[in-house]
Amino acid sequence: MEWTVIGTWKMAAAGVRIAADILQQGGTAADAVTEGISDVEDNPEFHSVGYGGRPDRTCHVVLDGGFMDGDTLHFGAVGSLEGFRSPVRIARSLMDKEANNFLVGPGAEAYARANGFEERDNLTEAAKEIWKAEKDRLKKLSAYDGHDTVCFLARDAHGTICAGTSTSGLFMKEPGRVGDTPVPGSGYYADSRTGAAAATGMGEEIMKGALSYACVMHMKNGMSPMEAAQKAVSDLDRELKERNGHAEAMSLIAVSRQGEWGIGTNVEFTFAVSDSSHPAKVYIARPEADAVRIEELNLE
Ligand code: GLY
Repeated sequence: MEWTVIGTWKMAAAGVRIAADILQQGGTAADAVTEGISDVEDNPEFHSVGYGGRPDRTCHVVLDGGFMDGDTLHFGAVGSLEGFRSPVRIARSLMDKEANNFLVGPGAEAYARANGFEERDNLTEAAKEIWKAEKDRLKKLSAYDGHDTVCFLARDAHGTICAGTSTSGLFMKEPGRVGDTPVPGSGYYADSRTGAAAATGMGEEIMKGALSYACVMHMKNGMSPMEAAQKAVSDLDRELKERNGHAEAMSLIAVSRQGEWGIGTNVEFTFAVSDSSHPAKVYIARPEADAVRIEELNLE
């Protein structure tokens, strides 16, 4: 049986290689997603996730993350979490509880502490300097300042599909703001009988269309992951432009039940992917009039 793993942004490249090794050795989709995302959470070079993530308006690095198992449809999520190493690991651990699957703020932190999750101050000197430089400047907030959410989708050799997400969210966000990343249906959705999708971009826009769920429903109705991801993004982009005059950046990754992958985006968007027949590669997707053009990105 075949496996597939895909992650958002070129920052996912090393994590996709780690996840691919796990899947190649017969490991689970859940472990592949967790370890792939954790690699990004630990890297201070990536300014939108975990350690070194960009701070909120009060100079605190506050994280969101989610996890979903496509066999059971169970999900776990944390929002507005400060002081812990890996939101995705905490989200995953909440998944199999009967209730209380989505915890935020002090409640999420108390849970993480009580359950022995590793603590870490995620504010780096570099992030503090960026915050100081920007804090007095009137600036339009963009989820893409720093390249946004890391999302991983994996289908393992047993046919199980899992989705995971992690981000420090919008730079200079208001304390307490939670984006799409931990919200099932918006930031991610996985159903092993159909496929999975996960989103990156402006959370406030993504949530208006429950974008990941919309994509999975298009797959359920017979579309390929490429068709489904592009339809989900272009429909919401059009709706928002018709109603509000503009639409912010939104991108989707998708994987089908059979392990095919797809991309939808209304901006230039990079991603990394590997499957049982192909080593990890990074691609760039550019939206065009009726489709998305995808080219391999040479990182040398
Ligand atoms: N997509 C990440 C956020 O809006 O927080």
